[in-house]
Amino acid sequence: MDRIIDGKAVAARVKEEIKNKIEERGIKPVLAVILVGDDPASTVYVNNKKKACEFCGIGSKSYELPSETTEEELLKLIDRLNKDKEINGILVQLPVPKHIDPDKVIEAISPTKDVDGFSTQSAGALMVGKKGFVPCTPAGVIELLHSYNVEISGKNCVVMGRSNIVGKPMAMLMLRENATVTVTHTKTKDIKEITKRADILIAAVGKPRMIDQSYIKDGAVIIDVGIHRLDPAENNGKKLCGDVDYDSVYDKASLITPVPGGVGPMTIAMLMKNTLSAYDMQNKSQG
Ligand code: GUN
Repeated sequence: MDRIIDGKAVAARVKEEIKNKIEERGIKPVLAVILVGDDPASTVYVNNKKKACEFCGIGSKSYELPSETTEEELLKLIDRLNKDKEINGILVQLPVPKHIDPDKVIEAISPTKDVDGFSTQSAGALMVGKKGFVPCTPAGVIELLHSYNVEISGKNCVVMGRSNIVGKPMAMLMLRENATVTVTHTKTKDIKEITKRADILIAAVGKPRMIDQSYIKDGAVIIDVGIHRLDPAENNGKKLCGDVDYDSVYDKASLITPVPGGVGPMTIAMLMKNTLSAYDMQNKSQG
């Protein structure tokens, strides 16, 4: 049986469903995308987000600001977009330049337009099981697991990494799905003893190919959230890798996400979903 979880195919299906819903209803949700500076990776991500919007029939308003933009100027723009009834979702691509406090930026976005789900209100809603925006990457992982009929309830899930963007919300989502969840991090002792008990292992450590077969048990489902650039000359023409050493782990895993083409495409698909939800929430509350 094929062990590969095809994130590209699942993301395409999710985006197709959103496109159809939007078309049928004759609506036009709008996402504002803000990029400060010209970080090459961020520029690629932002362009991919704009392309996905176009595919789904979501309007995108792009704000590409110079790296010298002050925090005050950025906060003013967010304030203006918060008040703009034509805008349903606001996304500030991270990281922002060093002179800007990312926490202030995240908290400035209206919770009703926080399609990234990074604000304290969104994180709190997830924690207590209330409705709110769920961060796109962990939401995408859940969508992948459901798409491949992976049983989650009662399973041991180990989330490697505790970032606010992936690890923590991922752990909360797996808990919501009734998994028994363990979170590991840089201070964890005897990490392999923990990861080897995982039925579902979710890697978000930010270290290229750190997780080899010695970390996993036979038949585990392996989800790789990492993405790292490689020198193709030194890696058989490969440009990207994940946190998981794919070749080492493949034979032991029952299912595994590749990099690229695993979790990555799901992040953008879930952003589209959140933007449509934002539109719906705003239009309901207006009666
Ligand atoms: N930078 C890396 N991942 C993300 C993301 O999901 N959203 C935003 N806004 N910035 C990011």
